[in-house]
Amino acid sequence: MIDPAAAEIIERAAALLRRGELVAFPTETVYGLGADAANSTAVAKIFTAKGRPQDHPLIVHLAEAAHLDRWAKDIPAAARKLAAAFWPGPLTLVLKRQPDVCDAITGGQDTIGLRVPKHPLALELLREFGGAGGGLAAPSANRFGHISPTTAAHVRDELGDAVAMIIDGGPCQVGIESTILDLSGERPAILRPGMISAAAIGAVIGAELVLAGVTAPRVSGSLESHYAPRTPLQLVTSDGLIFAVRQAMVSRERTAFLATMAQPLGNELITWKLVPSDPESFAREIYASLRELDVLGCARIVVQAPPPTTAWQPMLDRLRRAASGFDN
Ligand code: TXA
Ligand code: MG
Repeated sequence: MIDPAAAEIIERAAALLRRGELVAFPTETVYGLGADAANSTAVAKIFTAKGRPQDHPLIVHLAEAAHLDRWAKDIPAAARKLAAAFWPGPLTLVLKRQPDVCDAITGGQDTIGLRVPKHPLALELLREFGGAGGGLAAPSANRFGHISPTTAAHVRDELGDAVAMIIDGGPCQVGIESTILDLSGERPAILRPGMISAAAIGAVIGAELVLAGVTAPRVSGSLESHYAPRTPLQLVTSDGLIFAVRQAMVSRERTAFLATMAQPLGNELITWKLVPSDPESFAREIYASLRELDVLGCARIVVQAPPPTTAWQPMLDRLRRAASGFDN
């Protein structure tokens, strides 16, 4: 049962969305910047608020898998199986679109990304707004290319007054964006790794998965520099950490570190932030930690790279992209 105060917030949010306004809402992955997916004027506001190029498609969020057919056609059996296994949850399915879906959502492509998020407030909102099959187009609620928000305060910092309302659902439990699986082609392909792994998906559909190469601009997260703080970010091994500490001391540059390893030596130029060493907790905290270090005015943020194993693949992917825009 949702409490009366929350119910009032959800009703207000749904009314704003019906009027074509933007509402940011929590999901289990990151906060989304929502608009009525059937209203092209409302959807256009998303691109303006984010500063996002028009050809980058948006994920449409649904209240339940039963609404898939309103948005997608020629839906393969694998999609139904995956929806049954993982929805609500952090998996986005790319399927052939219905012809009436507005081009602003699909970036003019013949496919559409769909998911049912696993957050009680998101689901309440979707039931209130889209109970009859309506959907909310919602990218991550950050400025284009920047770090995804995992709290309501992050959304406010990113978008300010560009959004009519922000629903505060506390910190996101997963912390990084959903796995994106393309089921519209010959073979299933992961376009963006996430906490639902290729192995878990493969076990449900009984198929081997390919991890797509860089396919920009189909997936904006596949652009080189993305998920990035404003401070240059450098990804290093644990040996590289020690080297970077020495370098900070020699160059007298304030440097922030994000590591699972304890700080080797103290120095007033160095801010050391410990992050958890298990993948789930790391994912939950990584974006908030990067934001915290980003406001310190350091010359660099040096991040200890997670191990190159499958469990860490989604986080390594985000960190590589965050580092790639900078010379390091
Ligand atoms: O966890 C998430 O997926 C979050 C929450 C809010 O649901 N959303 C999110 O949205 O990360 P966004 O727009 O920041 O990233 C969605 C990615 C984009 O890179 C976009 O290009 C890709 O999904 N995408 C959406 N529709 C697509 C399609 N039809 N084909 C290929 N890629 C698509
Ligand atoms: Mg995003």
